[in-house]
Amino acid sequence: MRLEVEITGKTYRSAAGGPHEVLAPLKFALQSGEVGVLIGPSGCGKSTMLRIILGLDREFEGHVARPPEARIGMVFQEPRLLPWRSVEQNVRLAAPEITDAKLSELFRILELEAHRNHFPGELSLGLARRVALARAFAVEPDLLVLDEPLASLDDALAGRLRDEIATLVASRAVMTLLVTHSLDDAIRLGDRLFFLSSRPARIVQEVPISMPRAERSEVELARIRAELAALLLESK
Ligand SMILES: Nc1ncnc2c1ncn2[C@@H]1O[C@H](COP(=O)(O)OP(=O)(O)O)[C@@H](O)[C@H]1O
Ligand SMILES: [Mg+2]
Repeated sequence: MRLEVEITGKTYRSAAGGPHEVLAPLKFALQSGEVGVLIGPSGCGKSTMLRIILGLDREFEGHVARPPEARIGMVFQEPRLLPWRSVEQNVRLAAPEITDAKLSELFRILELEAHRNHFPGELSLGLARRVALARAFAVEPDLLVLDEPLASLDDALAGRLRDEIATLVASRAVMTLLVTHSLDDAIRLGDRLFFLSSRPARIVQEVPISMPRAERSEVELARIRAELAALLLESK
């Protein structure tokens, strides 16, 4: 499976009627098993790009080729849970065919077992984010899209969740597209990093990380980080 994105432009109309150019021409592709990471300043157009890639926004110029039968898992910037449904119901509604065993395993990995019967209003943001992740993984997606899933969580929790995402991504062949502001998350999770300009977003630099995720020790991560810093400095 392969995702091919070729956007030639995206412009919103502002409330006053003027054009608001959000995406410049940009092009990239992602293979099954790869994690692509989008890194760019706030407001540059990342969420807009994800909506286009998911087919939720068709008002753009260009072309997105999604594998035709790809199952899609999505974690939006806000957890977007149904408030009148329990944690378990939220996940089951998205994935009606999930087995009890699979659901229990997901809840165990994401440390949600104690919260199955809680309602979204009873959850902290960190817990709600985990439920949104559980829901996205429950559909066994071929394409997983994560829009800043670790933002505004404390470092320890973000680190644990990041490791959980790595475990889940490694457990099956899924194409993942992750938006983050954290270079650390990017180099721990990503196979291909896309550095974006400010609005209108274009890809300033595409950096593949060829070392398998599982082999990235702290020493290797430090080396990758240093290489990246030098590369980004050069491209300035
Ligand atoms: N539905 C919309 N209508 C008009 N402008 C929008 C809409 N959604 C986003 N924008 C504008 O498009 C730009 C990019 O937004 P967004 O894609 O959310 O950026 P990011 O996710 O990178 O922070 C911003 O200037 C934002 O105000
Ligand atoms: Mg966004």
